[in-house]
Amino acid sequence: MAELKDIYAARVAEGAIRPDPAQEAVLPELERICVDLARPVPKPGFFGRRKPPEPVQGLYLWGGVGTGKSMLMDLFVAAVPVPKRRVHFHAFMQEIQSGLHEARKRGVDDAIVPVADAIAAEVRLLAFDEMQITDITDAMIVGRLFERLFAAGVVVVTTSNRPPEDLYKDGLNRALFVPFINEIKARLRVWEIQGETDYRQGRMAGAAVYFTPADAEARAALDAIWADLTQLGANDPVKGLHLRVKGRMVDLPRFHNGVARVSFWDLCGQPLGPADYLAVADAVRVLILEDVPQLAEGNFNQAKRFVTLVDALYEAKVRLVMSAAALPEDLYTLGTGSFEFERTASRLREMQGAGWGG
Ligand SMILES: Nc1ncnc2c1ncn2[C@@H]1O[C@H](COP(=O)(O)OP(=O)(O)O)[C@@H](O)[C@H]1O
Ligand SMILES: [Mg+2]
Repeated sequence: MAELKDIYAARVAEGAIRPDPAQEAVLPELERICVDLARPVPKPGFFGRRKPPEPVQGLYLWGGVGTGKSMLMDLFVAAVPVPKRRVHFHAFMQEIQSGLHEARKRGVDDAIVPVADAIAAEVRLLAFDEMQITDITDAMIVGRLFERLFAAGVVVVTTSNRPPEDLYKDGLNRALFVPFINEIKARLRVWEIQGETDYRQGRMAGAAVYFTPADAEARAALDAIWADLTQLGANDPVKGLHLRVKGRMVDLPRFHNGVARVSFWDLCGQPLGPADYLAVADAVRVLILEDVPQLAEGNFNQAKRFVTLVDALYEAKVRLVMSAAALPEDLYTLGTGSFEFERTASRLREMQGAGWGG
């Protein structure tokens, strides 16, 4: 099995990434987990009872945006020789919530038990991207859920933008959440990546982010940006992100590594509202929005949603990459609210600036 530092060096050699001491410093931590996970799991004992494997300390990798946390995690996950799952934390919690719902419908008393056990039966390693907890229903169950997963020998590696103490900061009933923080600190080594470089900005700086008209050339440019930011090959599967907002689903089928790609009609042609767009803005760092049409007088609803979307992205400092039929000022000039649209156009201009985004 190749060591992670060699895999990293190979990626540097082929020009995919630049050598970065702050990233290299994380590799021994991930290597340790690789080695520990590769040790054989104890055989079922007398009476076929399965002993949980020796505990392996996971990793909680946190730090600024664009410092390469997800990239490092992907490198690690690809190399680890055990049943594993890499999943966006948000998406994982959504699955958990629907699993709990199903279990309760079946009349199970303590729904967390079968849900956690089903996961533990399938994977040895859970790798989460972007652990963050904003939802009280998630906050109230993660403690017991992860306690059970850890007890069954599941190892967790996760990225986050904040230290464990700041998870669910100022959240409702936070005292009930604190045991989860303690659990995380006990089971995972907490590591702050000290990187100074925001590579995402580096990759986007100076690059065009607004393509008009929305023709084949624009599509090819967006393909290239998507491939560069996600590091996905043309045939790699994309899991997508499915956000539950007020009991309905907002689906982003093309989502990877903080980057979502979606057509205008899929996002602004559906009956979505401010809460949905806020959830999207909260979940993505870069939104690639394709095929924004020139909006006519009859497109009031789509125009209004687009305004709401841009406001949400603007507030959340999300990077927006767009292909559109016209320049921002010319997208909506005739219908109701077209005067107010000037503000949106101006925001779109500002968001194209080199210093934009976080
Ligand atoms: N050392 C590096 N050299 C060049 N590009 C890098 C490097 N590390 C990461 N990147 C790229 O920068 C972007 C942001 O990295 P990512 O891992 O998504 O950051 P984070 O998860 O910390 O926000 C990605 O496109 C990634 O491939
Ligand atoms: Mg990331």
